[in-house]
Amino acid sequence: MKLAIGGKGGVGKTTICAHIVKELSGRGRSVLAIDADPSPHLGRLLGFSGLDNITPIAEMKDLLQERSERNGPFYKINPKVDDLPERFMLEEQGIKLMVLGSIQQAGVGCACADNAVLRSLLNLLLLSPNEDIILDMEAGVEYLGRGTIVGVDYFLVVVQPYRGSIETALKILKLSKELKLSNVFFIANQIDSKKDIDFIANSLGHVPIASYPDTREIKIFERDSKPIWFASKDFREVTKKLVDKLLSGDISG
Ligand SMILES: Nc1ncnc2c1ncn2[C@@H]1O[C@H](COP(=O)(O)OP(=O)(O)O)[C@@H](O)[C@H]1O
Ligand SMILES: [Mg+2]
Repeated sequence: MKLAIGGKGGVGKTTICAHIVKELSGRGRSVLAIDADPSPHLGRLLGFSGLDNITPIAEMKDLLQERSERNGPFYKINPKVDDLPERFMLEEQGIKLMVLGSIQQAGVGCACADNAVLRSLLNLLLLSPNEDIILDMEAGVEYLGRGTIVGVDYFLVVVQPYRGSIETALKILKLSKELKLSNVFFIANQIDSKKDIDFIANSLGHVPIASYPDTREIKIFERDSKPIWFASKDFREVTKKLVDKLLSGDISG
């Protein structure tokens, strides 16, 4: 299964992503978590220890230049990337993690050449048949236009019951329609009441496929840099049901 998780900044993308990764891995599946946020946090929430001095691949300018064979306006459209997964993959407790960073907007400086490398790498990873891939996206909507997540089975958009988060979700919905992505689903986070869910469902015209409660332990574990999986039984329960739905393909609100 290949998933991307998006939404406005601070809505809970990385928290929920880390839970899905742990749930899938706990079921004995092979899981690769990809942190595609320019300020990566996923490894920390998963409890990875070897994160000091990790540079996102998107910031390894020398490597990107070498692989794209950039020379003025010319660069390789199909750069060599097949050795990169092994070189830059971290693995702890049976979970693989790649800190990719953000694929930048085309047209800015040398972004096109760098993107060719990052995109080839991502496409290669998304093709791996026996591995679950969970992408923790950067905040906002820009990556959609870059076609970064075309190869995923599900694009999960996290929303909170307030207008700013809904506005971003509506933008994502509009763009996804234009791009003909038919696999967009919403996950509600920091929900206190049925009213919160109704507000989200009415605002989006879609019922969220999972709802996570507002949970104090989640905040405390994050603050204390403890692996988030152990913070809340409720969170684990919601994740289990969500993953059941995604794996069965029977998705409804
Ligand atoms: N359901 C929740 N209950 C309480 N705190 C939460 C919940 N979900 C997320 N948080 C907290 O909100 C903050 C932002 O969450 P994070 O997952 O990093 O968001 P994002 O990745 O979307 O920027 C973190 O401090 C996190 O602990
Ligand atoms: Mg995040």
